Amino acid sequence: MDGRMVGKEEEALKRNLIVTIDGPAGSGKSTVSKALAKRLSYLYLDTGALYRAVAYLIGREGVSENDEQTLYDLLRGADICLQKSGDVLQVYVNGEDVTGYLRTEEIGLTASKISTLPLIREMLLPIQRKAGAQGGIVTEGRDMGTVVFPDADVKFFLDASESERIQRRFMELSNRGDGIPYGNIARDMRQRDLQDRERTVAPLRPHEEAVIIDTSSMTIAEVVEAMLRIINDS
Ligand code: DC
Repeated sequence: MDGRMVGKEEEALKRNLIVTIDGPAGSGKSTVSKALAKRLSYLYLDTGALYRAVAYLIGREGVSENDEQTLYDLLRGADICLQKSGDVLQVYVNGEDVTGYLRTEEIGLTASKISTLPLIREMLLPIQRKAGAQGGIVTEGRDMGTVVFPDADVKFFLDASESERIQRRFMELSNRGDGIPYGNIARDMRQRDLQDRERTVAPLRPHEEAVIIDTSSMTIAEVVEAMLRIINDS
């Protein structure tokens, strides 16, 4: 693949589809979603970044995630929005691009905790729907197919074995120079899985129409090619 648009990808581009990708942490969602968006020349939206931005904001303001009233007041007064940077939508909080602060384990865990709160999900819902309103988007998260874009044209659910997902996260953090022990990553991932799957509002689960792909023994390129074939046949 030399980056030139091939016929079928051109067709998908013209169709302005909404493609949703849900799945647990470490399933390969982010890497695959970005690559797929690029191949289709679609916008890419990482909705986890919105929940992470809320986690970042409450950490910065020193508000406890258990103090729901103060948390809601803080969020009502905050301007959280998405802005296009090339083909990627980035999260801004009160005019500041917070993207660079969001990818830590601590923020991931707090994001998972506050994402169980219905009011927070409600506040973030219109931001996500507005971003997808014109189509031509690949959007990843936990409830893209089930709640945010239930009428999406193509819905995927990526999964992988727990050990593979822990290993991937460990490698990602090690490569970044974050020396977090394997045992801590495993513990945090299990906690996050449990929270994301068992919450009452918008729990992580595949939409009944979603194509489920187990990425445990697949390369990124293989997953992207498999998805492109499904999109082209849709
Ligand atoms: O995908 P991520 O690791 O950046 O997401 C961080 C947390 O945000 C995740 O553990 C649960 C929450 N989240 C969510 O509840 N719904 C989404 N659509 C995306 C993320």
